[in-house]
Formats: sequence, structure tokens, C-alpha cells
Amino acid sequence: MIKVIDISKSFGEKKVLDKARLTINDGETFLIIGRSGAGKTVLLRSIIGLIKPDSGKILIDNEDITYLDKSRLNKIRKKIGVVFQGNALFDFLTVEENVGFMFYQHSNLSREVIREKVRETLELVGMRDIEDLYPYELSGGMKKRVAVARAIIYHPKVVIYDEPTTGVDPIAVDKIASLIEDLHRKLSTTSIIVTHDLHVGLKLADRLAFLLGGKIIFEGSQEELKNLKDERIIQFMKGSSEGPIKETEV
Ligand SMILES: Nc1ncnc2c1ncn2[C@@H]1O[C@H](COP(=O)(O)OP(=O)(O)O)[C@@H](O)[C@H]1O
Ligand SMILES: [Mg+2]
Repeated sequence: MIKVIDISKSFGEKKVLDKARLTINDGETFLIIGRSGAGKTVLLRSIIGLIKPDSGKILIDNEDITYLDKSRLNKIRKKIGVVFQGNALFDFLTVEENVGFMFYQHSNLSREVIREKVRETLELVGMRDIEDLYPYELSGGMKKRVAVARAIIYHPKVVIYDEPTTGVDPIAVDKIASLIEDLHRKLSTTSIIVTHDLHVGLKLADRLAFLLGGKIIFEGSQEELKNLKDERIIQFMKGSSEGPIKETEV
């Protein structure tokens, strides 16, 4: 489904990705872990074509999307829904306008039709009668659901969640985890999750990858992870400050 082949990306002097490679299979839930600043968001943004890598390739359904023109890329982006870190909702738009944003911007559908699609999609994420509210009127967990609704309104084949449980309270965290699981099943998507919440991540993931020093230093199943003797990964999973990974290293 998605192949990241040796992509590198620098910002100025700083090399964020250094020949990172991974493969995400059709229909699986794939977890990406790594320290803050490791380049997880840069990797996700490269996968959806928002960032052009300096070198390497990204294949989606066997199509090389790395250097596509805008119109072709937009078509492929419709296959991928993204729940951005921090939601990226527009504060000055209502829930309906946020969730239906792409339809309002890029289709000729009538307001009634879009409103109905929004209503159905909100229902899928467990909410109703909030269409006319503004984001500031919602709790952290509700905002996250709205961001999820916006990501799935096209019924994408792939849904990407960038730190979906950051900034929501512990009870809402559990609900978001169930929601991700539920949508994965109901919509038969491939799901990609970046999270620091290993409890949630490991509960959901079929396979996972660990990003360190710009490289994917592990990719495999949870079983393979458990049997691994790599001290760097053991340190990360334990959340310990003692070990081969230094404070400043990402
Ligand atoms: N557009 C950009 N311009 C310059 N530096 C960036 C840009 N985007 C990300 N970076 C840098 O790349 C590094 C990785 O960022 P990011 O992918 O957001 O990390 P994380 O793993 O926490 O998601 C950080 O040091 C960040 O400052
Ligand atoms: Mg990030």
C-alpha cells in the first residue's frame, strides 16, 4: 500500500530524515514511534506529499508520488485522511464548515447535501447536533472527534493520526483509542498512528516502526519487538533516561 524508500530530508544544516524506509501493508494498523523532534511528523507529511524529500521515493498503491504535479497529487490525497497534530481546525468556522471543508471548497454539492454528509460522518465518530458550534465551544476530546470526522468524510483508504491522544484527558484518550479501532474496522482502512502513548499504540498496532537519528531502526510486529535485544529500543519502551540514547539525541 505505502512504501517509503530511503527518504532523506534536511532543513538547513539539520538532517531530519536520513534514508528512512518502511512498508505499510494494506489494511493494517501501523504505529510509528520515536522521540519528540525525531521527524515523525516530517515523515507523515512526506507520505502525503506536503513535504518534498531531498532524495528517496514514496510509493502509494505502486504509484510514485514523490515528485507528482499538484492535480495528480490532489487525487491521491483523497485516498488519505489526516488527523493533524493539534487538530488544525479553523476557529472561525463552525463544526459543519470544518468537517465539510473539502466539499465546500472543492465540489459543487449543495449545502443540504454537504450538511447531510457531515451529519452522517459526525454520527460515525459518535457525535450529533453539534454542527453549528464553533471549535472553542468543544472539549478536547470532542475537537479530536471533529478532526477525525473531517479526515474521514471522503471515506479514505488510509487514515493517518498524528498524536491523536495528546491534549485530551485520560477518559477521552480511551474513547479516542476505541474510535480509531472502530473506524479501522467499519471503514476497512489502513491506519497509521504516531503516538507517545505506548499503551494506546500497542493496543491498536499490528506492526510498528521506530524512528531514531532519521532512520527507521526497527520495523516489525509486536512479537518481534518483544524479542529484540536492541538496547536503544528497550530504553525507549521502558521510558528510561539511562541507556544508549542520550538526552539530546532524537
Ligand atoms: N518546515 C520546517 N522547517 C524547519 N525545520 C523543521 C520543519 N519541520 C520540521 N522541522 C524540524 O524537524 C525536526 C523534526 O520535527 P517533527 O517531524 O515535527 O518531529 P516529531 O517527531 O516530534 O513529529 C524538528 O527539529 C523540527 O524543528
Ligand atoms: Mg510530531
